[in-house]
Amino acid sequence: MAKLRAAPSGLLSCLLVLFLSSASAITEDSQEKQVYIVYMGSLPSRVDYTPMSHHMSILQEITGESSIEGRLVRNYKRSFNGFAARLTESERERVAEMDGVVSVFPNKKLQLQTTSSWDFMGLKEGKKTNRNPTVESDTIIGVIDSGITPESQSFSDKGFGPPPEKWKGVCSGGENFTCNNKLIGARDYTNSGTRDTEGHGTHTASTAAGNAVADTSFFGIGNGTVRGGVPASRIAAYKACNATGCGMEALLSAFDDAIADGVDLITISIGGESAHSFETDSIAIGTFHAMANGILTVSSAGNSGPEDSTVCAVAPWILTVAATTTNRGFVTKVVLGNGKTLVGKSVNAFDMKGQKYPIVYGKSAASSVCEAENAALCEPECLEASLVKGKILVCASTKGLKVAESVGAIALIFKSLKPDVAFIHPLPASGLPEKDFDSLVSYIESTESPSAAILKTEEIFNRTSPLVGSFSSRGPNTIAVDILKPDITAPGVEILAAFSPDGELSQGDTRHVKYSVLSGTSMSCPHVAGVAAYVKTFYPKWSPSMIQSAIMTTAWPVNATGTGIASTEFAFGAGHVDPIAASNPGLVYELDKTDHIAFLCGMNYTSKILRIISDETVTCSEDKEISPRNLNYPSMTARLSVPHSNFTVTFNRTLTNVGPSSSTYKSKVVAGHRSNLNVNVTPSVLSFKEVNEKQSFRVTVTGSDLDSKLPSSAYLIWSDGTHNVRSPIVVYTGY
Ligand SMILES: *[C@@H]1O[C@H](CO)[C@@H](O)[C@H](O)[C@H]1NC(C)=O
Ligand SMILES: *[C@@H]1O[C@H](CO)[C@@H](O)[C@H](O)[C@H]1NC(C)=O
Ligand SMILES: *[C@@H]1O[C@H](CO)[C@@H](O)[C@H](O)[C@H]1NC(C)=O
Ligand SMILES: *[C@@H]1O[C@H](CO)[C@@H](O)[C@H](O)[C@H]1NC(C)=O
Ligand SMILES: *[C@@H]1O[C@H](CO)[C@@H](O)[C@H](O)[C@H]1NC(C)=O
Ligand SMILES: *[C@@H]1O[C@H](CO)[C@@H](O)[C@H](O)[C@H]1NC(C)=O
Ligand SMILES: *[C@@H]1O[C@H](CO)[C@@H](O)[C@H](O)[C@H]1NC(C)=O
Ligand SMILES: *[C@@H]1O[C@H](CO)[C@@H](O)[C@H](O)[C@H]1NC(C)=O
Repeated sequence: MAKLRAAPSGLLSCLLVLFLSSASAITEDSQEKQVYIVYMGSLPSRVDYTPMSHHMSILQEITGESSIEGRLVRNYKRSFNGFAARLTESERERVAEMDGVVSVFPNKKLQLQTTSSWDFMGLKEGKKTNRNPTVESDTIIGVIDSGITPESQSFSDKGFGPPPEKWKGVCSGGENFTCNNKLIGARDYTNSGTRDTEGHGTHTASTAAGNAVADTSFFGIGNGTVRGGVPASRIAAYKACNATGCGMEALLSAFDDAIADGVDLITISIGGESAHSFETDSIAIGTFHAMANGILTVSSAGNSGPEDSTVCAVAPWILTVAATTTNRGFVTKVVLGNGKTLVGKSVNAFDMKGQKYPIVYGKSAASSVCEAENAALCEPECLEASLVKGKILVCASTKGLKVAESVGAIALIFKSLKPDVAFIHPLPASGLPEKDFDSLVSYIESTESPSAAILKTEEIFNRTSPLVGSFSSRGPNTIAVDILKPDITAPGVEILAAFSPDGELSQGDTRHVKYSVLSGTSMSCPHVAGVAAYVKTFYPKWSPSMIQSAIMTTAWPVNATGTGIASTEFAFGAGHVDPIAASNPGLVYELDKTDHIAFLCGMNYTSKILRIISDETVTCSEDKEISPRNLNYPSMTARLSVPHSNFTVTFNRTLTNVGPSSSTYKSKVVAGHRSNLNVNVTPSVLSFKEVNEKQSFRVTVTGSDLDSKLPSSAYLIWSDGTHNVRSPIVVYTGY
């Protein structure tokens, strides 16, 4: 019986918007049965194979029960094979031993993780951008998320013809849910209909492919035209998440259907706090089958930064997206009684008309049961309401957000731990970075009747952008250590897009809106999905890897400011997405299912397992396996075990000409972060005579003295004078 020898992993895979709560395991039921996912690879091509009866007989066999009522949770039967069922521990062990079973893993909960962002990326509105409208309208984006708001103007079908003929999906959104020629499909895996009551799925779908909607703002903040990357494309919504998170069993069903329904591209802003080994990760499994069917999946990197090793979408067949700031920042000024102005961050639509109110520091309003230092943080139960009522409360932590209203504060100023992100709060509020917070405290302590006004949020032009958000998950990749993740970065901070009127804007918020401002890698992911769809409109036949390569090799260099890994490729991968350049890459690094299988051989997956996954004859043998370093990936990464000795690593790569038929590219190497690498490229010139011609080369990297915390990097650029095909080269140790 086949057991995988792949690397073990941390648990928990994420809706990736910043304010949502963290993961929780699904509770076991009273008979100590737990929901397990039984993954059985590809669907056998035999015509007489009926997956559902096979699943049923497996369940009957291992449970010894003729009725499996209450046991079966889901069948996966359209795009790949498997089921989810309630099993005891011993049943789990037995099913894992059965022929045809690749892996059995517990169902876990994952979490959910624009007006100016498209301009910022260079994809201008209207005629300023070259588009291919007919193909764009035939492109279907599958959005796996918390559902969608069908009535949103962003999804109106004004001007849309009927769905493309290839569409095989359905509109089964439940009661009071109607699709149209823009929102052409809806499915639900949460027993509540496809309507989005969170806002997250509506936001991500509109960022990828929403219509252009003019004069949109959050109570006037960020006013402009909101639009998706491919406004003419169609959307199919797959609801796998609700307020409690996203079940892995539901996610796998969403992939099973989306692939079979005929979507062109999948965007999934869901993940966990760390990566899982591929065979126990619903997203890695679903995306593998999507890739095998010619569908690229774009996924969020996670919101567990700035700590290292937190990136959660790590398979090479996924395009993994980090989140960066744009040049539009939101600031909320605090004007003190002495006339001094402090600049904080929040999305504050409450207009206090500039009037100053008395301010009180939590520390000076401690209730009898608390120490002053806990009151300074505004811990629950620590404040004496009579001392706070009618005043602006000042707290040395964000805990004040929970208590401000209950103690009668009219507004809040807090010390922000994420001073690079503005959030919406249920009352007038501004988050100050530590230094400004300290100066506020000294003003309060040195003034008899301190007062302040919190102004309405203003937009500023932020020159220091783009920079990777502090929250954005970082590499290195904990599963495939020689594959750089995240792959790319895109706008994911303070993004205005469509929202659900049922969604909660912030905890305890009673306002309801159709457009809201969210931050997270959940927001950057659909930006790249929109770019991928845009690229695909020019090259409808391109494989997922060609689109991924085009996006990665044309990325803008990100300015490496900051300290630690935050300023390295572990934070931003190949750089910042550039939609226009991505639509004309010149050369691409191609990969197909066979290459990924050979790569999995190199990661020590057995032939037997791989045969089931791919439903083809697979033999892993030394001459067939690809060392992960030689996978034809658009970035080149090696983890070395010895930090201080001299090293040599090589990477074999092959480029395919997708530009002008006759072209000559010269290689150039430029320094990256900690640029102590010597890079040699042979041959150093590649000449192409035809379109689709392939040319191989080898990169040899030598060096010594790697830092045990920071990766060393360089960039290889192939240039014909017009196209610059750029790949990061990263060598690291110590993880
Ligand atoms: C249908 O949904 C819309 C939008 O949420 C709501 O306004 C309307 O009242 C609902 N109608 C019914 C019959 O539930
Ligand atoms: C959330 O979705 C799960 C399925 O993943 C479902 O079992 C659960 O009842 C739903 N919870 C709520 C509150 O809707
Ligand atoms: C948004 O801008 C438009 C035109 O620029 C203007 O007509 C409209 O009043 C603005 N809306 C808000 C809420 O500021
Ligand atoms: C400007 O961007 C930088 C990083 O790019 C960020 O740290 C800072 O908070 C932003 N400022 C504003 C006001 O948004
Ligand atoms: C990168 O950041 C540094 C420090 O903030 C700045 O001096 C430099 O001009 C920036 N470079 C680019 C290309 O933005
Ligand atoms: C695969 O197994 C070989 C031999 O046991 C080992 O040297 C190699 O490091 C393993 N590779 C991975 C990616 O685990
Ligand atoms: C490492 O390389 C340096 C420079 O190429 C050389 O001077 C040194 O002797 C080498 N060290 C070892 C242990 O090989
Ligand atoms: C890598 O390329 C070199 C030189 O082109 C070749 O000799 C070698 O066999 C290749 N290695 C693999 C594993 O393909």
